[in-house]
Amino acid sequence: MTTAVQQLLPNAGHLHHAFETHPRELIVVSAEPLTPEITHFVFADPAGRTLTGFEPGSHLIIQAGDKRNAYSLTGDGVNPRRYEISVLRHETGGGSEWLHANVSVGGNVLVEGPRSMFAPNPVAKKLLLIAAGIGVTPVLSHALAAARWGRPAEVVYIYRPGSAAHLAELRTLAASYSMELYEAHGREPGLELIRQRLRHQPLGTHAYACGPADMLDDYLALGRAAGWHDDRLHSERFQAPDLEPGDAFGVRIASTGQGFTVQPGVSLLEKLLEAGLDVPNLCRQGVCGECRIPVRSGTIEHRDHVLSNEERNAGTAMLCCVSRGQEIEVDL
Ligand SMILES: Cc1cc2nc3c(=O)[nH]c(=O)nc-3n(C[C@H](O)[C@H](O)[C@H](O)COP(=O)(O)OP(=O)(O)OC[C@H]3O[C@@H](n4cnc5c(N)ncnc54)[C@H](O)[C@@H]3O)c2cc1C
Ligand code: FES
Repeated sequence: MTTAVQQLLPNAGHLHHAFETHPRELIVVSAEPLTPEITHFVFADPAGRTLTGFEPGSHLIIQAGDKRNAYSLTGDGVNPRRYEISVLRHETGGGSEWLHANVSVGGNVLVEGPRSMFAPNPVAKKLLLIAAGIGVTPVLSHALAAARWGRPAEVVYIYRPGSAAHLAELRTLAASYSMELYEAHGREPGLELIRQRLRHQPLGTHAYACGPADMLDDYLALGRAAGWHDDRLHSERFQAPDLEPGDAFGVRIASTGQGFTVQPGVSLLEKLLEAGLDVPNLCRQGVCGECRIPVRSGTIEHRDHVLSNEERNAGTAMLCCVSRGQEIEVDL
């Protein structure tokens, strides 16, 4: 049934004129190398309209050849005229390489979003922002927003000399907005710096970290060892290591009553797609949050990097690309 609002605004799900998150083409207004491996792309609306605003730490989904990849927006998200992303090239024939080879000024890109999965906690007294390598992208977004709204923040940036994207912007923010910036080169000095900064924060600080998977595991361990509660230790992963195949488990689809077994090494997502259900998905590694499905009953073995402890304990949702369980009834 078409609602009165949909009749008035057939293409809009929201009354704000600039609100658009469905797949749409934007034009490329800039594509500049930041380092030999990282390129900064800037996109704009073809008609010059303001783009949909976003929370710091949000990302876009970009059609990159035959892949759909997530890329963090580096801006602060307020009334954006442009969307900016920075992409590390992996020479594996995947989407990042495709973007470097095919996206140039004047061309188009197909984007979806912005989507938010790494937003700042509004009641945080201070933000401790930790970036390693290309993980600087959402951290820059948080730092710019903190500067805009005058929120106390400090940044730790771990990088290899000569490979640091956005270092100049972070140094400028540090100089102009009395935001402390701590820099380290390499893994061990980086972990030592994280250890120190975690130990020197006022009560009520929330930490946000993005970087390689092993560095994030160490950050979480260091935070817990320093007495931080998990609810204040946030992280975003761009990739996750391969998982064990897991055990076979039974699944029932609530709406149809259909039941099946998910064999070891096969994901619940694959089985649901095979059964004809249209389940959104993207990374298939438990890092993007796209394949979240509601669960009615059963014991879930959560294996993702997205859900909070509270969401895991509630047992009412799972990320079906990686998580498994026992006697699961999905609410689909
Ligand atoms: C929420 C979110 C935000 C993201 N933001 C950014 C961003 O701002 N900038 C950016 O460059 N990427 C970002 N990514 C990662 C991005 O979506 C792609 O995964 C990445 O560009 C690799 O895609 P690909 O198609 O080139 O390589 P694929 O074909 O998917 O992978 C090729 C190989 O490279 C390895 N690989 C890929 N990416 C990484 C990595 N980051 N670290 C270590 N090994 C890797 C994989 O293990 C794989 O074996 C983000 C991912 C998520 C989920
Ligand atoms: S598809 Fe990305 S978390 Fe499942």
